[in-house]
Amino acid sequence: MSSTTAKTYSPSKAMADAAHVNADRYDRMYADSLADPDGFWREQAARVDWITPFTEVSDVDFTLGNVSINWFADGQLNVAANCIDRHLATRADQTAIIWEPDSPTDEALHITYRDLHAGTCKMANILKDLGVGRGDRVVIYMPMIPEAAFAMLACARIGAIHSIVFAGFSPDALAARVNGCEAKVVITADYAPRGGKATPLKTNADQALLHCKDTVKCLVVKRTGGQTTWTEGRDYDYNALSKTAADTCHVEPMNAEDPLFILYTSGSTGQPKGVVHSTGGYLVYAALTHETTFDYKDGDVFWCTADVGWVTGHSYIVYGPLANGATTVMFEGVPTYPDASRFWQVCEKHKVNQFYTAPTAIRALMGQGDDFVKGADLSSLRILGTVGEPINPEAWNWYNDVIGGGRCPIVDTWWQTETGGHLMTPLPGAHAMKPGSAMKPFFGIKPVVLEPTTAEVLEGNPAEGVLCIASSWPGQMRTVWGDHERFEKTYFADYPGYYFTGDGCKRDADGDYWITGRVDDVINVSGHRMGTAEVESALVAHPKVAEAAVVGYPHAIKGQGIYCYVTLMGGEEYTDELRAELRKWVRTEIGPIASPDLIQWAPGLPKTRSGKIMRRILRKIAENDHATLGDTSTLADPSVVDDLVKNRMNS
Ligand code: WT7
Repeated sequence: MSSTTAKTYSPSKAMADAAHVNADRYDRMYADSLADPDGFWREQAARVDWITPFTEVSDVDFTLGNVSINWFADGQLNVAANCIDRHLATRADQTAIIWEPDSPTDEALHITYRDLHAGTCKMANILKDLGVGRGDRVVIYMPMIPEAAFAMLACARIGAIHSIVFAGFSPDALAARVNGCEAKVVITADYAPRGGKATPLKTNADQALLHCKDTVKCLVVKRTGGQTTWTEGRDYDYNALSKTAADTCHVEPMNAEDPLFILYTSGSTGQPKGVVHSTGGYLVYAALTHETTFDYKDGDVFWCTADVGWVTGHSYIVYGPLANGATTVMFEGVPTYPDASRFWQVCEKHKVNQFYTAPTAIRALMGQGDDFVKGADLSSLRILGTVGEPINPEAWNWYNDVIGGGRCPIVDTWWQTETGGHLMTPLPGAHAMKPGSAMKPFFGIKPVVLEPTTAEVLEGNPAEGVLCIASSWPGQMRTVWGDHERFEKTYFADYPGYYFTGDGCKRDADGDYWITGRVDDVINVSGHRMGTAEVESALVAHPKVAEAAVVGYPHAIKGQGIYCYVTLMGGEEYTDELRAELRKWVRTEIGPIASPDLIQWAPGLPKTRSGKIMRRILRKIAENDHATLGDTSTLADPSVVDDLVKNRMNS
């Protein structure tokens, strides 16, 4: 991974000349952004329209006990007005959203900025009629359909705070999130078609709402027209109401620091936390990163394959692209339906210029062979991107050669739910890429690599340690919903004065960054973040389970798989049927993305004499790395390790 061994891929001269940012400009802008952050961001903030201009740029304190992050605080703006209304004079008839349905034989929709305005205003008026106002919370539990974007923007328009729950989450997970933010309304759909199957979203919502206050209302969008049950007085029919709802709606002037949305994400302990993003800073950051990282230019068609249930969908399907007046593709389906050519067919069909996806999808499609790619004309592609996990060189090379035809820079964007937008990435016209490296910090981002135990800042290159950020940036999360103390403890306690990312990283001899993965008990499964503690608590909630420990292990397609060690209650039988039952149990408790890949029966777990589970050892066994188990003599019963090694599960 050092600069002497890594092959680099430079942008062509034509690409560099035409790009928003070339190498010189990056160096200059990056230096300026650190030398005078307020000056830099004052200028960048002009890319959004302000109702009331701000006077102060930033007011930030990273000191534990006093953490407070403010950007453009006395300014007022509205995100929906920035993503829609301000484009109407010049782009009313331009396509804002290309909607590509799950089934390729169904018709795609081209939603213009004018349509987006009408759809958003109707949704906003319906929400207002349901009693939603400024500061109220709305949970969105939807398929990838245009109404999901209308719902997000409708909340933004009237000043409500949305919290999107990925449609793959279970009723229990949905209920926890509805209750967690005391939502007034849940917006859902009858069904969510995906890969030819339809998830009964309304039925899931019905189950979830049994565990919520009976004042919570449910607004239901028709997607398939399939059967649902209806609770009079609680459920509202969006399609009926939108027939008569007005298609104009007042824009609520919001303070820059008012929350725009909450998004729950997994941490290393306990329940998922509600990450809170701001209105002004978030929008400025999403818009700038979208334009710069993807070198987005007027008229380009941009496709981010994420779901709006994840932050990637928030920032790079909806807010960033629409703030920039872009044409953004919204895809309802999956990469392998009806077959592994789907992504490439869609690229050809809609003449996609920038394509942004996850390494796990690339690996899965690479495994299906090149024939699925060959039938598609991919000449419209100019920039490729990846997000969510480190990309292995083999997948990078396939993406570069087979998809990009060797012409398209690949931006490996490292960021997090918490960061709102990209924190490190190569820029397509500026940097010579190295497969697997997130390369360079974005403007305003000051990464530091620390020695994990002493917290000493490692100067010079190369260096390896934990990754922290010494600066604030406008897209940074502001707090954990309802628990500011948890916010401070999670991100500002371990390494005082810095934002702690939870990731490890290497800085090579050239000063380029390589993310090495999480250093906490968070694992990354197919680019989705999963707290091992969450899976453990789901497992021990099963009546037959006494104890469980969950770790990640290398998985060829998913990046990491979920490896569970389970001890049963005395007298229970260790059977394959029970394994299958536990797998199903976790899917129901959390959702299919948390489904255990391997469950090893563990009559005993390696514990210290004080009873603490030694996860380090469990991780090594799961990784099949027995040679370096390290010292096990401090264990209460060292023999359990031999048993676990002997009975390790094979994938
Ligand atoms: C974690 C954040 C941000 C959108 C998707 C995931 C890992 C993310 C990369 C990358 C290596 C990456 C990190 C990070 N990660 N992008 N390009 N290279 N690792 O968001 O669910 O908040 O997860 O994903 O470990 O901390 P998230």
